[in-house]
Amino acid sequence: EQQSTVSITVVGASGDLAKKKIFPALFALYYEGCLPEHFTIYGYARSKMTDAELRDMVSKTLTCRIDKRENCGEKMEEFLKRCFYHTGQYDSQEHFVTLDKKLKEHEGGRLSNRLFYLSIPPNIFVDAVKCASSSASSISGWTRVIVEKPFGRDSKTSAALTKSLKQYLEEDQIFRIDHYLGKELVENLSVLRFSNLIFEPLWSRQYIQNVQFIFSEDFGTEGRGGYFDHYGIIRDIMQNHLLQILALFAMETPVSLDAEDIRNEKVKVLRSMRPIQLEDVVIGQYKSTTKGGVTYPGYTDDKTVPKDSLTPTFAAAALFIDNARWDGVPFLMKAGKALHTRSAEIRVQFRHVPGNLYNRNSGGTNLDRTTNELVIRVQPDEGIYLKINNKVPGLGMRLDQSNLNLLYSARYSKEIPDAYERLLLDAIEGERRLFIRSDELDAAWALFTPLLKEIEEKKTIPEFYPYGSRGPVGAHYLAAKHNVQWGDLS
Ligand code: BG6
Repeated sequence: EQQSTVSITVVGASGDLAKKKIFPALFALYYEGCLPEHFTIYGYARSKMTDAELRDMVSKTLTCRIDKRENCGEKMEEFLKRCFYHTGQYDSQEHFVTLDKKLKEHEGGRLSNRLFYLSIPPNIFVDAVKCASSSASSISGWTRVIVEKPFGRDSKTSAALTKSLKQYLEEDQIFRIDHYLGKELVENLSVLRFSNLIFEPLWSRQYIQNVQFIFSEDFGTEGRGGYFDHYGIIRDIMQNHLLQILALFAMETPVSLDAEDIRNEKVKVLRSMRPIQLEDVVIGQYKSTTKGGVTYPGYTDDKTVPKDSLTPTFAAAALFIDNARWDGVPFLMKAGKALHTRSAEIRVQFRHVPGNLYNRNSGGTNLDRTTNELVIRVQPDEGIYLKINNKVPGLGMRLDQSNLNLLYSARYSKEIPDAYERLLLDAIEGERRLFIRSDELDAAWALFTPLLKEIEEKKTIPEFYPYGSRGPVGAHYLAAKHNVQWGDLS
């Protein structure tokens, strides 16, 4: 049998994402023995650099979880020897041709497969794809391209991007990454739901009162303002990361675990969503604040952001799925930068127990909330807990809520892989389950484009909130309007 080889080219190798995530993830895969025996990694970027300089740059960021282990130094050396650098313009056919020659030398006549990771600004995507894919017909194996968001700014620009990419690639060669789908707890969502009898039958409007998808960061745009101001939090987090999780959460049972079966179900949910009303959305922007003698900058203090920018850095929204399973159940989303904490979680709030014995003469209870809540903490401190009502031990009859708690760090000794490790491995293995298909992308944009357009046309003023706070109070009113309390604040 002919031996095969994989060449991985990181286009945009000197960028932040490549340094912080892609190279460390590739190293982790190497360390774990997940990369094929014959592989080569190329960094491709415009700046002039030698192989040695690339290795030096990469070695500085291999500070992943793995370097604590004993033979890590040795493994790093081995890994770095497989990393090379090629200087080139992103739109130069000629520069990609010279790369192709170098790759062919490494491939040494073996069955050759190529993965390109495009970690570059969207305005040069298409040119780079054109150049990168041009050698595809001259190699014996597959060519795949991983692309990072933003996939356009709205339905129109996204469709145009898809159309341009498809001039050079088939849909099954395009791996649209949403790194939230590679997070351990997001992947576990389907396991939790579909393989536990105590959850699966409860997963509907009959038992679930509302679901919340919450993303918060305790830092601002810090230097990324130029990118961010053009997109805003709704495009940056909601339309992709949170909506993808929602689709996985709410989909019907897929026929199988095959990528196409899962993506078929996700797309159905997305297409069943009710158009989002502006009155069901709150937007905010963080402003400067001074705490304990330290002044934290406001969003518009970022030099790359226009002083009069109305771009939201926070948004909360109530969404609905118009199908039999979820009719009337609010799906709340909340995403914000420069808030009091960094976390991502899914909260499932169950309905009241009908005719609850312990609530009847509720003079007797000491609970504000007596409903069950299932919390899936995506990060940090990955875990799952379920709030149950419990009798406080003692002679009296007092109830309180306690957690059945699965904390990953206590239960599992193995560290959790970074999302990029899972996704890169999947792309190498041709597993598409966690990548976004073009019809999913279209449906996601179809949902958010009218809302974004309305916000922008009306020049809706965001509610200002202090850096490091819990965000605009408007988010509480929005939840209250739908008879909900945010689980992270109650
Ligand atoms: C990215 C967004 O997709 O996700 C960033 O563009 C955000 O604005 C980041 O900071 C958050 O990712 P993580 O994995 O650090 O939660």
